[in-house]
Amino acid sequence: MTKDAYSLAGEAAAALRSAAALDTFDVALVMGSGWVPAADAIGETLTEIAFSDLPGFRAPAVAGHGGTIRVVRTPGGRTALIFLGRTHLYEGLGVDAVVHGVRTAAAAGVRTLVLTNAAGGLRPETQDVGDPVLISDHINLTGANPITGTTFIDLTEVYSRRLRDLVREIDPGIAEGVYVAFRGPTYETPAEIRMLRTLGGDMVGMSTVLEAIAAREAGLEVLGVSLVTNPGAGLSGEPLNHEEVLEVGRATAARMGVLLAKAVDRL
Ligand code: 6GU
Repeated sequence: MTKDAYSLAGEAAAALRSAAALDTFDVALVMGSGWVPAADAIGETLTEIAFSDLPGFRAPAVAGHGGTIRVVRTPGGRTALIFLGRTHLYEGLGVDAVVHGVRTAAAAGVRTLVLTNAAGGLRPETQDVGDPVLISDHINLTGANPITGTTFIDLTEVYSRRLRDLVREIDPGIAEGVYVAFRGPTYETPAEIRMLRTLGGDMVGMSTVLEAIAAREAGLEVLGVSLVTNPGAGLSGEPLNHEEVLEVGRATAARMGVLLAKAVDRL
C-alpha cells in the first residue's frame, strides 16, 4: 500500500520532468488558500501543468485552491515548482493523496519545501489579520500520519531553524508560532479554540502538518508560513467563512509573494 504511493509519486515526478523539460528543481512551494495570488510574484512561468495531467493528482475540490503546478524561474535563477492548491484530509481521499505532491516534488529532486496556509489566529492580542507567521513547530491533531510501519522519524526540528532565520533577515518583524492542525472541514468550536490556546497553539488550520511529516521522511528542509486570515471562533464575536479567508489572501498577495520570492532566492 505505502510502496504503491511512493512509486506513484515516482511516476508523477517522471511526468513532471518531461512536461517541464527539466531534470531537477531547486524548491517546491505549496500555495494554500489565500496564497495562490502570491504565486505571480515568485518568478517567470516556464510551464504550467494541470494536476489532472499527472499520475495520482486530483483537481482540488474547493474554490480558490487552484489545481495546477507552475514551473517558475526566479530572478536569481532558481527553478521552483509552485503547487497552486493541495489536497486536504477532509476531502476524504486519504493521507497518501494529501502528501502526494510532496512525495512527487522529492522524487523530482527538490531538496527544500515551502508550505503555506491560511490559518485562524489563536492569539488576537498579538496577531493582526493579514500578517504572515513563521511556523516554528506543529501539533498534529488530525488523527492521521502519512507514514506507516516501523520507521521512527525524528520531528525535533520539522520546520528548519536555518530557513526561519533566513526569512527573519528579510522581514525582521515577522512573528513565529506553533501551528495546530485539525482534520476539518468544520472550523473549531469556541471551546476547542480555548483548548488550543491552553495547549500552546498559536495558529489553527486544516493542512501542512502531514505534508511536513512526509517532507521530513524524504529528507527535505521545510519552511512553513501561515497567513492569519481571521481569529479562531469565539475570539472576535464574528462567525467564520471561507470567502473571508480568500479575501485576506487577495488583499495581501503582493506582500506575501515578495516575501516568498526573496526567501526562495536566498535558500
Ligand atoms: Cl479558525 N480554523 C481552521 N481549522 N482553519 C482555518 C481557520 C480556522 N481560519 C482559516 N483557516
